[in-house]
Amino acid sequence: MVDDYMVLEDAHLVPTYQKFPVTIVRGLGARVWDVDGREYVDCVAGYGAALVGHCNPRVVKAIKEQCERLIACHCSYYNDARAEYLKRLVSVLPRGLTRVYLCNSGAEAVEAAIKMAWKATGKKKIVSMMRGYHGKTLGALTLTWDQKYREAFEPLPDFVKFVPYGNVDKLREALSDDVAAVIVEPIQGEGGVIIPPEGFLGQVREECDKRGVLLIVDEVQTGFGRTGRLWACEHWGVEPDVMCMAKGIAGGLPMGAVATREDVATKMKVGEHTSTFGGNPLACAAALATLDAILQDGLLENCRTTGRYMLDRIKELKERFKVVRDARGMGVMQALELRVDVKEPLLSLINEGVLATYSGRTVIRFLPPLCITKEEVDLVVSALERVLSNVKL
Ligand SMILES: Cc1ncc(COP(=O)(O)O)c(C=O)c1O
Repeated sequence: MVDDYMVLEDAHLVPTYQKFPVTIVRGLGARVWDVDGREYVDCVAGYGAALVGHCNPRVVKAIKEQCERLIACHCSYYNDARAEYLKRLVSVLPRGLTRVYLCNSGAEAVEAAIKMAWKATGKKKIVSMMRGYHGKTLGALTLTWDQKYREAFEPLPDFVKFVPYGNVDKLREALSDDVAAVIVEPIQGEGGVIIPPEGFLGQVREECDKRGVLLIVDEVQTGFGRTGRLWACEHWGVEPDVMCMAKGIAGGLPMGAVATREDVATKMKVGEHTSTFGGNPLACAAALATLDAILQDGLLENCRTTGRYMLDRIKELKERFKVVRDARGMGVMQALELRVDVKEPLLSLINEGVLATYSGRTVIRFLPPLCITKEEVDLVVSALERVLSNVKL
C-alpha cells in the first residue's frame, strides 16, 4: 500500500519536489502518522502551514460549519466570513496597515506586493536581499536570490537589485531614484534561518523613509507567531508599508494576504489585480479560527517558552557534536547547521520518528507547530542525538 501511493505520486506529479519517503495520512497537533500507523513528531508541518497544529480543533470546527453554509464566493460579492476576518486581521496588523488583498499563497502575496509598489510609486526597481526567498512565480522568483531556482528561467525581468542581507551601506548605495521598494524577510527562512544583525531592520526602515521608498516585509514564513511575536518585525519595532502573509494564515488551508496602507492600496484600480479564489469564505473562516487559536489558546506563549527550551537543547548539541557548526533560531523557527550535507541525517531522522527539512545543503530546519510540547522537543532532541552520533565528519 505504501508503495502504491509513492508510485502513483512519482508517476503523475510533475517532478519538481524533493520527496521524502513517507506517506502521511493523518495529523494531530505536532504529530503525524504514516500509512502504516507509524508516528512522527512533525517539525515541517506542511512547510509551516500547520502552524496552529494539525487539525486544530478550532480550525476543524470553523471549516465544518462554513463548508455546510457556503464554500465559494468571489470578492465581487460581499460575504460575512470574509468581512469578519478582515476586521479581525486588520485589528492585529502593524500600525497603519488597514487594507488587505486576499490571495492563495505566499508567492501570490509577493506578486501583489510588487504591483502595489509599482502603482504607488510609479517606479519599477525593487531591492531584494542576497539569500532571500520570496517564491517561484515569475515576479516572486525575480526577487528570489538562489541561482538554482532562477537559472533555467533566465532571462527573468530585470527589476531587481540584490544587496547583502545585513549590510546597510550596500543598501544605501542601491537606493537610486528608480527604486520603488525594498523587500526583506525579518528572518531569512529558506536562506538558512538567518537572523539579521541587531538594528538592521530598523536601519532598512530609516533608509526607506529617507528616500521615499516603500518597505515590503515578507512575513510569509515568520508571521502569525512563528518567532514568538505575532509579526517578526515587532522584535525590532519596525512597521512595514506593505506586509506579505501566507503559510500558517489559515490553519493549513491555501491562503495568502498582503496588507498595506490606505494611500498605497487606493492607487490600485478596479480590475488591476484579482483572483477567483482570493477571499474564499472557507479559507477566511479557517483563518479567523487560526487567529483565535494563536491569540486565545496560549500558543504565542507556548511558542516562546517551548521555543526557548528547544533552542537551548539544540545549542547543547552544538557543544557535544563536532559535526554541528551552529544552532540558531527564534520561537519555533530553528536550525542546526552541520559541517556535512544534511540529506542522510534527514533520512535517518525519519527512521527515528522525526520530520525536519532542508534550508540549503547543510542546514536542518525545524518549523514545528506553535503547540509543540517539551516532551515532543525531547523526542526530537534524542532522535537528533542518535542521528548525529552516527554522522562521520
Ligand atoms: C519568506 C517567503 N516568502 C514567500 C514564500 C512563497 O510562499 P509559497 O510557497 O506559498 O508560494 C515563502 C515560502 O517558503 C517564504 O518562505
